[in-house]
Amino acid sequence: MSTFPQGFLWGGAIAANQAEGAYLEGGKGLTTVDMIPHGVNRLPVKLGQEKRFALRDDEFYPSHQAIDFYHRYKEDIALMAEMGFGVFRTSIAWSRLYPNGDELTPNEEGIAFYRDLFRECKRYGIEPLVTLCHFDVPMHLVTEYGSWRNRKMVEFFTRYARTCFEAFDGLVKYWLTFNEINIMLHSPFSGAGLVFEEGENQDQVKYQAAHHELVASALATKIAHEINPQNQVGCMLAGGNFYPYSCKPEDVWAALEKDRENLFFIDVQARGRYPAYSARVFREKGVTIAKEAGDDEALKHTVDFVSFSYYASRCASADMNANNTNAANIVKSLKNPYIEASEWGWGIDPLGLRITMNMMYDRYQKPLFLVENGLGAKDVVNADGQIDDDYRISYLREHIRAMGDALEDGVPLIGYTTWGCIDLVAASTGEMSKRYGFVYVDRDDAGNGTLARTRKKSFWWYKKVIASNGEDL
Ligand code: BG6
Repeated sequence: MSTFPQGFLWGGAIAANQAEGAYLEGGKGLTTVDMIPHGVNRLPVKLGQEKRFALRDDEFYPSHQAIDFYHRYKEDIALMAEMGFGVFRTSIAWSRLYPNGDELTPNEEGIAFYRDLFRECKRYGIEPLVTLCHFDVPMHLVTEYGSWRNRKMVEFFTRYARTCFEAFDGLVKYWLTFNEINIMLHSPFSGAGLVFEEGENQDQVKYQAAHHELVASALATKIAHEINPQNQVGCMLAGGNFYPYSCKPEDVWAALEKDRENLFFIDVQARGRYPAYSARVFREKGVTIAKEAGDDEALKHTVDFVSFSYYASRCASADMNANNTNAANIVKSLKNPYIEASEWGWGIDPLGLRITMNMMYDRYQKPLFLVENGLGAKDVVNADGQIDDDYRISYLREHIRAMGDALEDGVPLIGYTTWGCIDLVAASTGEMSKRYGFVYVDRDDAGNGTLARTRKKSFWWYKKVIASNGEDL
């Protein structure tokens, strides 16, 4: 008997901005991600770099063509179906539906594209899991309104969300509001379209923007439930517990504080109110949240499930400036000497997944959904055209085992979507060579290649895992 329940949703995940390309086709407007090039000028957007808001001829922008999923989705969904996917996670590019973000009516061509995509999934019995905003804020909202620092974003986002729930009703049941909502603290431009003025309190801007996103997320959840009570809406955390670097009490406290920094968002989305500790944190950071009447009521519309990404655990000590840090998945952490790391320095810690899942269920008592997990690695195409990615199989195998252990611990888990089930553009670096997929895409970091798709060794392995409901690893 499998540890995984009947109906467990196995699948994979991508995001519009990292896969679709066609960045100006079908009436789509520019987004934040369209403005960030591959290479040294990628992240973060620093003060004075706003000139980047004009695209430059001497830069390469990987999102503009990405893996051309926009034109090849039928071929790609067929590959996912061949592996036996029960769920496919993608995002809607806000700017395909609202090119500027502040229009009153949507772009029908954008709606038609996603309707066809979701129908294609359903044709194979694949449940779409759809993120409304995966880092890609329409650029017009950044330049005209200052993105999420502006209260008007709540109105723009909820209008967009309502359009999605109405247009895709009956096709999509599982929704996520904001991808890795906590990343706005660590990478404010790519996370939430935030650019700072000289001398301003950046924490003030970030937490005010966070408040707007949290209200928008709660209102979207309310609207989703009103439109169809079957809708299931989740929040999404860039997850991975912080371990104290030592048992020194100051290190333990530092780890708790770091966890709270990230969990703050989910605390609000899953519990419906600001956590008690936030008052002290805001005081220390000089942050005052401007709330409107009705905001506290709105926040009570909590999510149905808690989704998260997990790549690695993290470490904290009282001295986080120690010359021993990395930034796996953008979040600064001390290097953990007890675990291995990927070629990009991201720790590999399957037990950390079990720890994270147990903590999250203890804290929220809501079903979990692991919507990103995987190993970014350089793949080599053999002389015979095959890709033997045993390292990826081994990473995923160990994490699936850890998920099974967490299930045995009593943690309810709806499903598992591995990140980048087909190779796509890396969010942090813009590289194609940092690959996560079961399907290889012929494209390099400079945008050369035929875009042809090839099944890797892990493709056949994952097919077997799904067919056996996680038994045959
Ligand atoms: C998560 C994001 O942060 O991690 C994805 O939700 C991203 O968009 C993934 O691609 C892996 O990060 P990277 O930088 O290796 O692409």
